[in-house]
Amino acid sequence: MNRTVFTAVGSAVRYSRIAGTGGYLPARRLTNSALADQLAARGVETSDEWIVERTGIRARHFAAEGEQCSDLAVAAARRALEAADCDAASIDLIIVATSTPDMVFPSTACIVQQKLGVSGCPAFDIQAVCSGFVYALTVADSMIRTGAANKALVIGSEVFSRLLDFDDRGTCVLFGDGAGAVVLQASDTPGLIASELHADGRHVDILCTPGSIAGGQVRGDPTLKMDGQAVFKLAVGVLEDVARSVLVKAGRSEADIDWLIPHQANIRIMQSTARKLKLSMEKVIVTVADHGNTSAASIPLALDVAVRDRRIRRGDTVMLEGVGGGFTWGAVLLDF
Ligand code: UT7
Repeated sequence: MNRTVFTAVGSAVRYSRIAGTGGYLPARRLTNSALADQLAARGVETSDEWIVERTGIRARHFAAEGEQCSDLAVAAARRALEAADCDAASIDLIIVATSTPDMVFPSTACIVQQKLGVSGCPAFDIQAVCSGFVYALTVADSMIRTGAANKALVIGSEVFSRLLDFDDRGTCVLFGDGAGAVVLQASDTPGLIASELHADGRHVDILCTPGSIAGGQVRGDPTLKMDGQAVFKLAVGVLEDVARSVLVKAGRSEADIDWLIPHQANIRIMQSTARKLKLSMEKVIVTVADHGNTSAASIPLALDVAVRDRRIRRGDTVMLEGVGGGFTWGAVLLDF
């Protein structure tokens, strides 16, 4: 693409628009009952009934031994590239949102770039836990609007199964692995209409994986810790506030939303958000039942599911909302 058409100082107004979506779930699917049986063998008690009633989750996918975050990301990216009818060589920006990278460094985005067989374009990771995809999409949109990029691969990819403490029933039943991706490209019509990102580091401790690496050893606990009720309370508040704020920025109202795609952590949080925004649950894309909480992958995976089953169509107005560790949250309003 000719970059001079879209310079920041040029006359043309420049937007970004989703050209294609892709998703990938690892082959191994574990129902609540199967997981409960495995946990029972180690003396941890849970049940399908408890998990469904408190979360809406019925099953999750776990990556195979040796299957890395970048493998999931590449599979989702290839599907997004195919849907956008473009090849990897035309991509000039790669952003991967993840909290479960392949390595401490380099970034998973660089590994994805290598596995896609391309080189040269900027590639980096964004770490905003479950808000990561909304953060990544907003950054890619900004780079496209300013002319720094023309066609971006924006990916959320996670292998949260690797962080779970299977002796902690309060967390190990909640998460799954997966990846979702979009090709975001420059456009003379919007696209992404408005977005907003937030963080509040005072709440670092309510959702974290506190371990680190030092002197060749893991220091501290490298498994996921969560104060579920504290996260729940914060999540329902910020998801309503940020949705309203983005609507105001966009000059639109709740009635303009065709589809709401909240982070897929708990059906009760999604129901509460929909109720507050006066949206019927029929307008909410829900994949938590089959995917569990896939952190930064949950929103692009849900988007891809709804695009492929033809609920979301070209021109529909979609609100994406992320919330998670940090504490971080944000929303993107877009015309698909
Ligand atoms: O991705 C980032 C965003 N994360 C979230 O949005 C998560 C937000 N939080 C939640 O979704 C909910 O707080 C949870 C699903 C994590 C927990 O649901 P809850 O209704 O808040 O349950 P709770 O933690 O208050 O626990 C209620 C009871 C406890 O037993 P007692 O003390 O009442 O006897 C727990 O020990 O449920 C027990 N419990 C379980 N029982 C069976 C906790 N986990 C389980 C389990 N199976 N897996």
